[in-house]
Amino acid sequence: MQSFRGLDDLDPGGKRILLRLDLNVPLKDGQVSDDSRIRRSLASVLDLARRGGRVIILSHLGRPAGADPALSLRPVATALERCLRAAGYDRPVAFAADCIGAAAQAAVAALGDGDVLLLENLRFHKGEEANATDFTAALARLGEIWVMDAFSAAHRAHGSTAGLAAYLPAFAGRLMAEELAALNRVLATPERPLAAVIGGAKVSSKIDVLRYLVERVQVLVIGGAMANTFLLARGHAIGRSLAEPDLVDVARDIERRAREGGGDLLLPDDVVVAPGLDRGNAAATVKIDQVPAAAMILDFGVASAARLCASLADWRTLVWNGPLGAFEHRPFDQATLAFARAVAQRTRDGALVSVAGGGDTVAALNAAGVSADLSYVSTAGGAFLEWLEGRTLPGVAALAAAAR
Ligand code: 3PG
Repeated sequence: MQSFRGLDDLDPGGKRILLRLDLNVPLKDGQVSDDSRIRRSLASVLDLARRGGRVIILSHLGRPAGADPALSLRPVATALERCLRAAGYDRPVAFAADCIGAAAQAAVAALGDGDVLLLENLRFHKGEEANATDFTAALARLGEIWVMDAFSAAHRAHGSTAGLAAYLPAFAGRLMAEELAALNRVLATPERPLAAVIGGAKVSSKIDVLRYLVERVQVLVIGGAMANTFLLARGHAIGRSLAEPDLVDVARDIERRAREGGGDLLLPDDVVVAPGLDRGNAAATVKIDQVPAAAMILDFGVASAARLCASLADWRTLVWNGPLGAFEHRPFDQATLAFARAVAQRTRDGALVSVAGGGDTVAALNAAGVSADLSYVSTAGGAFLEWLEGRTLPGVAALAAAAR
């Protein structure tokens, strides 16, 4: 594993710390509707503030084209203050209406030791995503130290996620360190057998993930509509199911690589079918060679789901991204929920190291009520996938380079 300087290598007392968090949280009616990411980000804020740092938090929210009041971080400051109070930090969180310039400078100048300030959405300035010199330098002037704690935005080579390393001493925050340790534990130094369960709608969006993983895992399970393309490649009729026929050769290639490497590529051999996503009342389970021409495959069948859950007994490590079926539409959530519960049970038993990530997977774990039972649930979506592709994440590379 690459090495980084972390918060234990830093004396924050009296210093202005630029702390990059990922507070890209959902808003509804102007309020934060899910504060999970905020709560997962508290450790660095609390640590730096309690040790007398002047904590200047940087984040993006959404993908604005320019300044957009609907994507202001102001309601996030309120939610952050509430979360910090619940964690025992009893001071207000200040907010600056811009992340650079006079408003930001004045807010920073007003900070005392142990204070916390959130700056307005970085993406209100084009320079953030472009990592433009004038923008990143202006951000850098606000602080003395950069702490990168936004693993879930580390796949972006933006000013605040990577560029600041050129201006300020760089340190990894607590959540970043935790994410990297957990992810390395499953791919860099896993206990084997190592299995990956990869679901989702399209093979095209996960080709690189599958190609990377197939060389590294003993078992690769394909779920979601992606499995249909693999079923097609094996010669099964899949009715009106979603699939990417032009990627059948890619699917064959991945299956061949699995075979040549001595690994298993698992697909369902019974499936839940229905005339459409909104026709759950007409769902039926059929063997994979009996899919009616007018039907869509929408979930693993009970037997395949049970076999998958049973095979957990053979695995020591699991990495999971993507549901097994059309999870958001009942009753096509059944296999995913059953699998989530089985993974949680094996993990609680101490028999499995389980790491999951991605928005749909986290939603499935929450729906099954087992998020807290996995070894690790990543806060990242896109960054988790890029990491599963074996890519170097710019935000992580910047930290590694700074430590050399
Ligand atoms: C995420 O939610 O995955 C991160 O905040 C990154 O957001 P982005 O895809 O808009 O860069």
